[in-house]
Amino acid sequence: MSSFIIQGPQKLKGEISVKGAKNHALKVIAASFLSSDEITIENVPQIEDVNRLLEIIEEAGAKVEKNGSTLKIQCSKLSKRGLSPELVPQLRSSIVLLGPLLARFKEITMPHPGGCQIGKRPIDVFLKGFEAFGVDCKIDNYTYHFKTKGLKGMRFDFPKPTVTGTETLMMAATLAKGKTTLINCAAEPEIPALAEYLNQQGAKIKGAGTHTIEIEGVEKLSAGTCQIIPDRIEAASFAIMAAATDSHIKITDCEPLHSEIPLNTLEDMGVNISWGNDWIEIKGRKKELRPMKITTKEYPGFPTDLQAPIGVLLTQARGTSTVFETIFEDRFMYVDFLKRMGADITRENSQKITIQGPTSLTGKEVESPDLRAGIAMVIAGMTAEGETKIGNIYQIERGYENIQERLNNLGAKIIK
Ligand code: EPZ
Repeated sequence: MSSFIIQGPQKLKGEISVKGAKNHALKVIAASFLSSDEITIENVPQIEDVNRLLEIIEEAGAKVEKNGSTLKIQCSKLSKRGLSPELVPQLRSSIVLLGPLLARFKEITMPHPGGCQIGKRPIDVFLKGFEAFGVDCKIDNYTYHFKTKGLKGMRFDFPKPTVTGTETLMMAATLAKGKTTLINCAAEPEIPALAEYLNQQGAKIKGAGTHTIEIEGVEKLSAGTCQIIPDRIEAASFAIMAAATDSHIKITDCEPLHSEIPLNTLEDMGVNISWGNDWIEIKGRKKELRPMKITTKEYPGFPTDLQAPIGVLLTQARGTSTVFETIFEDRFMYVDFLKRMGADITRENSQKITIQGPTSLTGKEVESPDLRAGIAMVIAGMTAEGETKIGNIYQIERGYENIQERLNNLGAKIIK
């Protein structure tokens, strides 16, 4: 398994352009099953999660043409009724394929998409939603068999907001018979971006981006071209990285409005930060970093995907900070690695930690338990004194395109 070696502390300087959003691109790729026409997707991040999903849809019969960050996909037929039992468990978010597949092909078999390091990632809400659509679901030893005579529009209240749950049922509803109303939906920016693209293809979706989405089913969707929106988590991760290393960098081709809460949090901490319509500039710290009480929330609250990166920064703030993770059951695997590096962190319970700072961090051997904890380890390695070795960097490459070269272009010294 390959690793990153980082000699800290490191100062960064220069400009870094943000890539397309992983959590938008994956759903638009899944949406290609909704139409038999060829679709084009631009600004697709070249990352491992995208590669895994493309392998899954190609194995199922889709024709995929990749040219840098532009994809052309055509799903005129399915090669078989089942998704690969080897490939699907490699990508939890492959669950989003279910909506388009059932809407168009009416029958599909797939293994449970698997949990991951941040939780067992249940799919109970998806199953309830498909049942409401009139899908018959049978489970035998960890494989799901879904069958329907045709999806019928319905009203579904999400027991809790789920991002991929909202996207999967919204995609299914575009070709269902009649009207579907989804209540208590997630409102992350990638959802209205997906809806806008589907409407361009002839879907009739209203309210995406709010907690109530209404979809009038149509006969078919036609060809379309989608431009993937900037990755708000990547942009804010780079801002946190610059704050932690007290660096002056400019982050370009991003959408600061999608990261308002995290950027305001950095400002409240005493980071010298400013932003315009498509850029963020960090000029180190105005003064000593102030401690914060962070609670992760659904959008537009503080995103759970930035919980690990901000956790690293809070080790450098003077005073007592707390982090309360409300979305996933255990997203603190990075804490033990940070403590190994010298951080003073107490785990109050599986959802809450207390951080005393500032503490100086020393380079150690660590791992990246999930992709967001992985980039947090990179930030810690850049902040620490001495050599940090980060194992399992596949987790980082799942979601950050060409991250070693892009950060080294900012003056980092990351060796693979
Ligand atoms: C999406 O995951 C993102 N992934 C996650 O990003 C992100 O952290 C998460 O939304 C929250 O913003 C993609 O978009 C591919 P949820 P998702 O369903 O949709 C529970 C990253 O690092 N739940 O909104 O899987 C679930 O366990 C990834 O890029 C059920 O209980 O998250 C969690 O506790 C990590 N039953 C909560 O809901 C279900 O059927 C919210 O999860 C579905 C979800």
